[in-house]
Amino acid sequence: MEKSVVQQIEKLKKTHNAVILAHNYQRPEVQDIADFVGDSLDLSLKATKTEANVIVFCGVDFMAEAAKILNPEKTVLLPDKTANCPMAEMVDAESLGWLKKEHPDGEVVAYINTTADVKALADICCTSANGVKIVKSRASKKIIFVPDRNLGLYIQSQVPKKEMILWPGVCRTHHDIKKEEILLLKQQHPEAELLVHPECQPDIIKLADHAFSTNGMVDHVKTSPKKEFIIGTEQGLCYRLEKENPGKKFYPISTAICPNMKKTTLEKVLKSLQTLEPKIHLSDEIMRRARIPLQRMMDMK
Ligand code: 13P
Ligand code: SF4
Repeated sequence: MEKSVVQQIEKLKKTHNAVILAHNYQRPEVQDIADFVGDSLDLSLKATKTEANVIVFCGVDFMAEAAKILNPEKTVLLPDKTANCPMAEMVDAESLGWLKKEHPDGEVVAYINTTADVKALADICCTSANGVKIVKSRASKKIIFVPDRNLGLYIQSQVPKKEMILWPGVCRTHHDIKKEEILLLKQQHPEAELLVHPECQPDIIKLADHAFSTNGMVDHVKTSPKKEFIIGTEQGLCYRLEKENPGKKFYPISTAICPNMKKTTLEKVLKSLQTLEPKIHLSDEIMRRARIPLQRMMDMK
């Protein structure tokens, strides 16, 4: 009898001593075959702890690159090599270099959603889970923050003593969430708590009960006495929330889909385990330089 795709993936995982890491926005069937599902910070941590020789990263390119930078000796696979984060491409190393020259007294905090050569110019990285803590911890009063302006504005609101130089990047999946839809969902579900990602626009964050990273939402929902939640982030997270919280209700945002996160399918995961491609390749020099700000962030955990 022919083996199912899932059975073949399981077998090849053993053959290659591979681990599958999946972001919270992945398709349900991809989340189901993963060894770990999490947010950017959690998956970076898992990548440093694994004993596996091969990491199959079901997410987007900057996440797989971070796993490679932290584990240069391991094979890191991104099952669809076109799965990128358009926001990460909104800042390039040359332009950041110019901005650094304009603000020589500023420290660069790079969101993990950046390319490796941008990370190589940063003093420290952050994710949406630890951005406030990281900015607070820096000695300099002036912070150059790239590339997400909305996350930068959110951090600024929590750390008003810092002067933040913000880059004009946005995540369209979050930036385009409409206030009208949020207000309608709140009206339809008056008992529901509104949780939003800090990549949303400030007027959406103002309406929310809490702003969290995706794992922050997972942790909050688990312990909250509330039974209903409006989830102001990419819809994929609702699958994990429903699976882990039977009896609680989740209302997604109709427009909040990241097409790149949805590119990874079970068939592509299988193919990448069969061929050990597409691999993440970065130059040793870029990895060496990008590891410094990434490791600084990891050491703050
Ligand atoms: P999290 O780190 O909160 O999972 O966010 C990643 C991301 O890409 C948000 O759009
Ligand atoms: Fe990038 Fe936005 Fe997609 Fe996250 S949801 S990977 S920030 S485009």
